[in-house]
Amino acid sequence: MALLEIRTYPDPVLRKVAKPIDDINDDIIKLAEDMIETMRLFRGAGLAANQVGVPIRMIVLEPESDKKDRGNKKSDALILINPVIVKSEEEEIAEEGCLSLPKFYEYIKRAKKVSVKGLSTANIPFEMECDGHMARAFQHEIDHLNGVLFIDYLSPIKRNLFKKKYVKKDR
Ligand code: NI
Repeated sequence: MALLEIRTYPDPVLRKVAKPIDDINDDIIKLAEDMIETMRLFRGAGLAANQVGVPIRMIVLEPESDKKDRGNKKSDALILINPVIVKSEEEEIAEEGCLSLPKFYEYIKRAKKVSVKGLSTANIPFEMECDGHMARAFQHEIDHLNGVLFIDYLSPIKRNLFKKKYVKKDR
């Protein structure tokens, strides 16, 4: 496995609409494994392929509850290819962060429960229902595949504050 470079705002690859994957080959599987390793090192809950500079529709996720087991098992992380949200229910506001927006956190409204469809790396279709942290992570990562960042949900005033702070902090 290898560590990947995480692209950070305002890298243009984060605004690309990622392409569907039609051939799940060894390169794709290797990329997924490297994404998991990278996500774990940086303590993220999820990572989308365009965050490592590859605009294809693949995400990896690690449920919060499994984090304490890291190192004990080879991988509890989920890999989803061509993921789509097929159902969203209720709303919830919670704090969010993103590895592509280091050290920036904001409260964002999302669906509380979602159903997600996608393919496994074995090319097997699956659908899962989840809520809370996991549902939020799915929505956040699938947004990345559509070129959407959580700052896009902020009010114009908050977004301007973000830009001022963020640019100041890093340059
Ligand atoms: Ni993110």
